[in-house]
Amino acid sequence: MHELDHYIYPHRVLHWLVAVAVLLSLASGLTLGFLGYEGTLDLLGNALTNLLYTSHKTLGVAILLLMTLRIITRLAFVVPDHEPPLNAFERVVSTSVHHLLYAGLVAMPLVGWAATATGGFPVEFFHWHLPGLLGKNEALSQTLFVWHERLGWVLVALITLHVAGALFHWRIKRDNVMKRMSLFD
Ligand code: HEM
Ligand code: HEM
Repeated sequence: MHELDHYIYPHRVLHWLVAVAVLLSLASGLTLGFLGYEGTLDLLGNALTNLLYTSHKTLGVAILLLMTLRIITRLAFVVPDHEPPLNAFERVVSTSVHHLLYAGLVAMPLVGWAATATGGFPVEFFHWHLPGLLGKNEALSQTLFVWHERLGWVLVALITLHVAGALFHWRIKRDNVMKRMSLFD
């Protein structure tokens, strides 16, 4: 392994775990958002509806934990140099998108947690019920769910840009950007 042209291995594993978890949480969240509680119940029945809510919350809490570890592995270890160096435009755009992704992926689970707790619903992580930390407040819960949805669309846009950038470097520019995050080469 050429450690100097890759992020350290744990950081790469965290990148791909978070990527899978985020795609699943967006898919499950948007399904719940589009159908609503009643709609999901009509379509999927009681057991699957509960499973979908529990899975969505569990994925979200897991993302918060993984992002915490990831911020540590990002700050504590050397970031590889770009070879060849990125131009100024690529540097500004990629750094902005990366920072916004980090901020969004910490904010999103916190807002989801707060919206759920203030709505009087359980904050679930697998079969555990985590402390809600906030008292019931219907109006606040509704506002927070609106922000949870808006942030969801912001994440969809950021991820689209990010994946387009990754594919551009990998297939068109053919530089070492993809390799920095790759698990296998
Ligand atoms: C990065 C993590 C997360 C992502 C990407 C995410 C994404 C989403 C999205 C896109 C929606 C649909 C919003 C709508 O259209 O109304 C949603 C709904 C929801 N999310 Fe999350 N979420 C995350 C974390 C969490 C967490 C940690 C919780 C609670 C512990 C949570 C609880 C909920 C609930 C209860 C709904 C359903 C809201 C409704 O019925 O309208 N989410 N989520
Ligand atoms: C779907 C959710 C994804 C999220 C939230 C995400 C997030 C991030 C973030 C925040 C970084 C900055 C580097 C760091 O961790 O410090 C990064 C780097 C990277 N990501 Fe993703 N990513 C996702 C999916 C993908 C996909 C699908 C690909 C490939 C097609 C990809 C390819 C890369 C590459 C190549 C880098 C290294 C860029 C560099 O160091 O200049 N990512 N990702």
